Amino acid sequence: MTLRQTLATLALAAAMPAMAADHLLEVKANKLGAPVQSTMYGLFFEDINYAADGGLYAEKVKNRSFEFCDPLLGWQAFGRVEVKDDGPFERCPHYVVLSAPQHRETRTGLTNEGFFGIGVKKGEAYRFSVWAKAPKGNSAIRVQLIDENTMADNQTFESKKIDVGSSEWKKYTVEMKSNRTMNKAKLRIFLSSDNPVALEHVSLFPKNTFRGHENGLRQDLAQALADIHPGVLRFPGGCIVEGYNLETRYQWKNSVGPVENRPTNNNRWESTFEHRYFPDYYQSYGLGFFEFFQFAEEVGAEPLPVISCGLSCQFQNSITDPKAHVPLDQLDPYIQDALDLVEFANGDPSTPWGKVRADMGHPEPFNLKFLGVGNEQWDYDAKHSPTKQDAPVFTERLKKFSDALRAKYPYLKLIGTTGPNSEGWDFDLLQPRMKELKVDLYDEHYYRNEEWFLSHGLRYDVYDRKGPRVFAGEYACHGKGKKWNHYETSLYEAAHMTGIERNADLVHMATYAPLLAHVEGWQWRPDMVWFDNTRMFKSVSYYVQQMYAQNKGTHVLSLTMDKQPVAGQDGQDGLFASAVWDKDAQEVIVKVVNTSSQPQGITLSLAGLKNATAATTLTLQCNNMDAENTLDEPEKITPKAGTATVTPGKKASTLQDELPAKTFRLYRIK
Ligand code: AHR
Repeated sequence: MTLRQTLATLALAAAMPAMAADHLLEVKANKLGAPVQSTMYGLFFEDINYAADGGLYAEKVKNRSFEFCDPLLGWQAFGRVEVKDDGPFERCPHYVVLSAPQHRETRTGLTNEGFFGIGVKKGEAYRFSVWAKAPKGNSAIRVQLIDENTMADNQTFESKKIDVGSSEWKKYTVEMKSNRTMNKAKLRIFLSSDNPVALEHVSLFPKNTFRGHENGLRQDLAQALADIHPGVLRFPGGCIVEGYNLETRYQWKNSVGPVENRPTNNNRWESTFEHRYFPDYYQSYGLGFFEFFQFAEEVGAEPLPVISCGLSCQFQNSITDPKAHVPLDQLDPYIQDALDLVEFANGDPSTPWGKVRADMGHPEPFNLKFLGVGNEQWDYDAKHSPTKQDAPVFTERLKKFSDALRAKYPYLKLIGTTGPNSEGWDFDLLQPRMKELKVDLYDEHYYRNEEWFLSHGLRYDVYDRKGPRVFAGEYACHGKGKKWNHYETSLYEAAHMTGIERNADLVHMATYAPLLAHVEGWQWRPDMVWFDNTRMFKSVSYYVQQMYAQNKGTHVLSLTMDKQPVAGQDGQDGLFASAVWDKDAQEVIVKVVNTSSQPQGITLSLAGLKNATAATTLTLQCNNMDAENTLDEPEKITPKAGTATVTPGKKASTLQDELPAKTFRLYRIK
């Protein structure tokens, strides 16, 4: 070979990617392991980032009952508008009276700004409704959808008149249509008579809601959540369960019954971060406990409500402040709320709370099986307690709830918590206490960086199997210095979830957090699904969750490399993997994540899977670690379907593949 030929050969070799070294992953397809719980992958809903009002809850009018601290927040009033507080709904007493303006050429009315505008879609119908009365005889209003930013002659693109003839409060409804799609329309109401009119609970709903419920959910967002195929729905939070004080805690009883009479509550995320402050963030409770139960039922998820244990947010309150936390001897009403909740969900319509449910249209029970007591609470040891003494503030309250709930509803599975951290003194203190208290599951929260996700692949392999089961109730990979939904973090979540799946005997539920975020109204990111007033997109983390939830199988299968779990350990070249059997489809499902920057060759040896011939794949792959889906490019990164060749064998079938760098691939082998 001439020197020139030798150099050319060397150059070619350098340009070609090296053949990836092969990794033998051995799956025991002939030995079923623990069942994968039907609850395994689910959803955690909290009203953060305008996830409820302005988000999943389809109502378009902000402050529809004039109950915000400033009763006209969200409204622009003009002419003669008076706020009164002796309205027909005792828990929402405010309303407005519009009276004739001073001159016939001037006007009286109100404009509602919606949540960052009012989103409308071309060709869609909207139901406007209002409670009204005409105290001095026949009156009327004109209701309009307007575009304030148009250069066209006419701002109004839909207008309807409502005659209000009765001096008694009555509900009036009219259908409105939009001839355009826009995010920032407004709703304007003009007084259209000489006589005054009183207005209360002004509402605008799309007719097209999820499953067509009048007090319903935004179709596109609810469908996206349903498309996960969630096994469990945890609600309503999160920190809003606790409130920033006891008064603002989530009280489920305020969230049921007629929507007009559900009292408005502050949303603690209004003011949590000064650098993302939203003074108009309240909870209307239009999306309340009935609607949560109904949604869970409709998407096939087990409902998992969380109730206040009498501690308001421990981050925001000193434990020595008696006003922030209910004294132990005054816990009874809180415990009663928990007992009543079970009756609301499961009780016969002849019981007081069962009747409330039945009157709302659901006489059948909701079959509640799980209940979370407290959100992210913790105890103190002497070293960390402000009182310098052991202060079991959470567990002593939990015990009281547990005693009462177990006595009355022994079938209920109770969920405790290990607090806000996945490790450290507070976690170490609480984990054994959850065992002592015999909770059925405890809720773990971890928002951690890339390094944590890559180095904790064996987290659940070493847990005590004799204690409670685990609910990974809030987790997400938060990129160091990059807290957005970029591809790399979602890939590491996929890697971590192989450990959840491998340990399905222990981990019975897992829910990514948070779930929903308005692009103009978020306080916390990353989040699973983002939206504005007319569009939405699914983050890459959404697709990771969906790939797991839709392919969770029924039983764990052992998958090892050199007899070790594949969890990104030394010598495993950044590979993470798990396997399950799907007894309904009679398929082996293998999930492999290559977190390294090199392609990795793999051979799946499937012992006991005789003469398998076909495999389908789903692959999540992207070369740009910082890439993410957006409203404008919602499908930039999505899983792609493919196939793989299987070599049938009499005792074991095998599948060989080369997994590109930074790739999550799922195989279904028949
Ligand atoms: O998911 C956002 C918040 O994170 C939750 O409200 C809380 O439980 C945790 O601190």
